[in-house]
Amino acid sequence: MDGKRVLLIVGGGIAAYKVLDLVRRLRERGVSVRTVLTQAGAQFVTPLSLASLSGNPVHTDLFSLTDEAQMGHIELSRSADLVVVAPATADLLAKAANGLANDLASTLLLATDKRVLMVPAMNVRMWQHPATQRNVAQLQRDGILFVGPDDGAMACGEFGPGRMSEVLDIVVAIDAAFRMQARAQQQQAPGILAGKRVIITSGPTYEPIDPVRYIANRSSGKQGHAIAEAAARAGADVLLVCGPVAIPDPVGVTCVHVESAREMLGAVEAGLPADIYIGAAAVADWRVGTAVVEKLKKGASGPPSLGLVENPDILATISTHQKRPVLVVGFAAETQTVVEHAQAKLKKKKCDLIIANDVSAQSGVMGGDENTVHLVSKSGVDHWPRMAKTAVAQRLVEHLAKLLKEGA
Ligand code: PMT
Repeated sequence: MDGKRVLLIVGGGIAAYKVLDLVRRLRERGVSVRTVLTQAGAQFVTPLSLASLSGNPVHTDLFSLTDEAQMGHIELSRSADLVVVAPATADLLAKAANGLANDLASTLLLATDKRVLMVPAMNVRMWQHPATQRNVAQLQRDGILFVGPDDGAMACGEFGPGRMSEVLDIVVAIDAAFRMQARAQQQQAPGILAGKRVIITSGPTYEPIDPVRYIANRSSGKQGHAIAEAAARAGADVLLVCGPVAIPDPVGVTCVHVESAREMLGAVEAGLPADIYIGAAAVADWRVGTAVVEKLKKGASGPPSLGLVENPDILATISTHQKRPVLVVGFAAETQTVVEHAQAKLKKKKCDLIIANDVSAQSGVMGGDENTVHLVSKSGVDHWPRMAKTAVAQRLVEHLAKLLKEGA
């Protein structure tokens, strides 16, 4: 909440006294508070107490020459991050629901382009009256937020819904409104990879030995899938070519499921052109030379010879492809001298960047949720600390977006 700005409209009701504590609580949390006091509100709290607690002048009059000269009412309605009405009386709800603008509070509610949080407080019969309920329903349709009212004993001696929410509950609702705004802003902002196409491989490959057996490895797909999801969140058009994994397809990504290295290469090539290629899959280097159609049998001649042959290298193929993406990124899964081996792979496979990671059994990287990576490029080595694979993915996407922007 620190650094946020609230415009607090104080309506006329006995619950107005709680608003003084609300101002104090908000300021404790670093929120700057401007207040508007309605004529009715001024019957319950004084401008002096509001000004003293908020540290800002109190606005009361739509036609005040001094106020308008200092800060016009339109600017006042828009200079906040959130407008809070507490207590929101039946009268204020009715005015807001019907778009009336005959005093400062109602004019601000009509002029604002910010979210509004209503904190109703009134007599139980007034709250339950069909007219008030109609107004509340209309305001909710208009996107106005509400907290309360609570049930309980009221100052007028009646019981039921109508009590203004407790101050700390209002603080929680204000915090939730800020979070909602932040999420909406994030979704609206064009992503750092908007308009870019990214192809990512993930998971292991299965190389058949016979119809029931295959050569595979321990890759879970967690790292590659996390990168695909982060790239999609950044606005990219993402093609994920994934080997057999037990985790779900990431959200917002086109997935092509393959088994062997040759199928993976085919799907990647079919997906070109792209701006970025990221080879996070643990592709088998070898496959069985001759495909065996029938299940191999145990025989007197001992274990069969598999006759391994080399698989195509997808990363090296894409690096030298006619439709080479601007950025070609590989991984290096090593168990010793991690960075040195990655530097050799960078040269051999002619890619722009290699993400080196230690996949020895004790690192827990293959199949685990965390990774320690080293970014190896022509310009040097950048060592990242151990972090969640999702955090590696997010940071990598930001790094690649920056490289693309700089012209890679
Ligand atoms: O899937 P997780 O459990 O989350 O684990 C993640 C990971 C450890 C698998 C991942 O971070 C990783 O390191 N992926 C690359 C694994 C690998 O095959 O590394 P490599 O050093 O053998 O290959 C180097 C690069 O060449 C890789 O980008 C690989 O995709 C690519 N390659 C390898 C062989 C081949 N035939 N074709 C390729 O494209």
